Amino acid sequence: MEAVSRTAQWTAAARALETERDDRLFADPHARTVADTIGFELLDRYAGAGTVPFLAIRTTYLDRAIVRAVEEHGIRQVVFLAAGMDTRFYRLPWPDGVSVYELDRPALLEAKARMLADEPAPAGRTRVTVPVDLTQDWTGPLKEAGWHSDEPVLWVVEGLLFFLPEHAVRNLISTLASHAAPGSVLLGDVISKAALDNPLSRPFLRCLEEDGNPWLFGTETPERLLTDCGWAVREVRQPGEPGADFGRWPYPVPHRGVPGVPRSFLFTCDLPPAEVRAA
Ligand SMILES: C[S@@+](CC[C@H](N)C(=O)[O-])C[C@H]1O[C@@H](n2cnc3c(N)ncnc32)[C@H](O)[C@@H]1O
Repeated sequence: MEAVSRTAQWTAAARALETERDDRLFADPHARTVADTIGFELLDRYAGAGTVPFLAIRTTYLDRAIVRAVEEHGIRQVVFLAAGMDTRFYRLPWPDGVSVYELDRPALLEAKARMLADEPAPAGRTRVTVPVDLTQDWTGPLKEAGWHSDEPVLWVVEGLLFFLPEHAVRNLISTLASHAAPGSVLLGDVISKAALDNPLSRPFLRCLEEDGNPWLFGTETPERLLTDCGWAVREVRQPGEPGADFGRWPYPVPHRGVPGVPRSFLFTCDLPPAEVRAA
């Protein structure tokens, strides 16, 4: 497995810890299996920076937004870009007829298949894994796997964008817009640029870099990034703000106008109306 794919076991370890709390926000019964020992080692190595509460919040925000998007928009195609060790296919209440596509690096998907080999697929839903490099063309393999570009899609881009250079981030988000039929939704997260520069983040960032997974991209203006790349922003939330706290965020949330603050942003976007896109 590539070094960057190990970070999927790190985030799975955090989901396991949340799952094992009495007051859990969600239950991911496979998280401990897919995290394996390495996931917990990385949780110690990358400690600090509010990782564990942040991942509980991110998972909960996206779980709820995913269920809502599928219900409200009648979407039946869900694509997890850089799915990693995500097990939402098994644990969320999907409506019948949903196809869940999991895109990630080939070695990660092979390892995940081995770890979940005995897990029966729940009835009424389909899971398709698509091995790709998301910095190359991935829409071709996704089409071959059964995705229909003329039907609404829910794209989920969770825990990926900071690993990519800016041109690849822009290219990816624009590709998601240009390959989305009306009624499609985009969910995901991105960090602020200050999170890459802040002295307090340095030890954590150095560990990521030493392990071959440097964080490369952040932005103070996620709304602008998403709009520039063809999306209509419905909401952007920082952990600790209403709708993205869930009783887990232990830190103050400085006003967006305060410069130099390391931040994470959770976002929900829609496709703009056709006349806006054509303009
Ligand atoms: C931090 S993990 C996030 C996984 C999952 N979305 C989550 O939130 O737990 C980052 C994931 O990005 C994947 N990844 C990074 N660069 C990639 C690329 N160029 N193509 C495909 N997957 C990539 C890794 O393999 C890894 O699974």
